[in-house]
Amino acid sequence: METFRAFRVYDDGKFGSGRAVTMSRAELDRGSVVVRTAFASVNYKDALTALGKAKIARKFPLVAGIDLAGTVESSQDARFKAGDEVIVHSFGLGGEHDGSYADVGRFPAEWVVPLPKGLTLFDASALGVAGHTVGVGIDLMQLNGLTPDKGKVLVNGATGGAASVAIDILSGLGFHVVALTGKMNEADYLRSLGAAEVIDRHSMNYGTKPLEAAMWAGAVDSVGGEQLAWLIRTMQREGVITAFGNASGNEFKGNVLPFILRGVRVLGTNVDNPLEGKKRIWQRLATDLKPRCLERIARRIRFDALPQAFDDLLAARMRGRQVVDFSLR
Ligand SMILES: NC(=O)c1ccc[n+]([C@@H]2O[C@H](COP(=O)([O-])OP(=O)(O)OC[C@H]3O[C@@H](n4cnc5c(N)ncnc54)[C@H](OP(=O)(O)O)[C@@H]3O)[C@@H](O)[C@H]2O)c1
Repeated sequence: METFRAFRVYDDGKFGSGRAVTMSRAELDRGSVVVRTAFASVNYKDALTALGKAKIARKFPLVAGIDLAGTVESSQDARFKAGDEVIVHSFGLGGEHDGSYADVGRFPAEWVVPLPKGLTLFDASALGVAGHTVGVGIDLMQLNGLTPDKGKVLVNGATGGAASVAIDILSGLGFHVVALTGKMNEADYLRSLGAAEVIDRHSMNYGTKPLEAAMWAGAVDSVGGEQLAWLIRTMQREGVITAFGNASGNEFKGNVLPFILRGVRVLGTNVDNPLEGKKRIWQRLATDLKPRCLERIARRIRFDALPQAFDDLLAARMRGRQVVDFSLR
């Protein structure tokens, strides 16, 4: 019987504990499309799942990993055939259903997105859930009127995976991007992605007024907490914020004046949009929102480097994205 590599999370009486093992196809969750994984990215949520830091695994054992890009090996669904290049993420992948950290995966056809022309499998994985979420967020900000002539866009948690992709895409669209980071030693990296200005989170004065000087037409917030509260108070009239992350925490204090006096819009952003919406955003990521610096943003790692990758991510020692390349042995 063929066995293959997988990173599985086992019941430990708490939120689960992950390790690299071998498994067989018979042990995989059900689905009509079998995919040979080429690349799978490492996301904040994956580190939490693998290290049992949050209640994300909804069944045990669970193959961890929330996104992948690969090639269809076989399909019982007429929409796919062997050899098709595809992306799979969300819909419970890596939480309720076996995820991406395995040489082989089996998924419902309704979760599978054909790789759009213009992206390679590596590109799709380098973007992954983080990049897709940024795509949803930029799409939402544009639908709410954001254009480069309106003013500057702030991106916080700037060296993070999602933020790096956001800087790359927004600067490519002609926005004046201001990167807010805790790692000023990475200022050159951030400028190389297109940041026009880099500011230091450790020397920030967030102020205390209900409305501070209006500075930003748009903002990409992957940090939450005090930074989101500050952003809301410093947005220009009708400024738009895509808010999708909580790297610094879940809670923030605020007041209504930015909303009722400046019309500030906080656009809650989530990756779990329906399949048709997903295809539309992937299409944009392959064309008008296509990043230019994915090779600089994403680092290829081996499957057996996953435990180290999880530790580095949770300790915020990383910059950009890490992508497991299943061809590396
Ligand atoms: N809603 C959704 O559907 C969705 C989808 C994808 C991601 N997310 C969330 O988005 C966030 C970012 O994801 P990611 O994959 O980009 O994570 P990441 O690569 O770990 O980036 C997070 C960045 O935030 C900054 N940071 C970390 N701790 C901080 C703190 N205590 N205070 C202020 N800044 C801090 C760091 O950047 P600097 O050192 O440069 O400041 C870090 O690199 C996570 O919370 C993730 O769960 C949500």
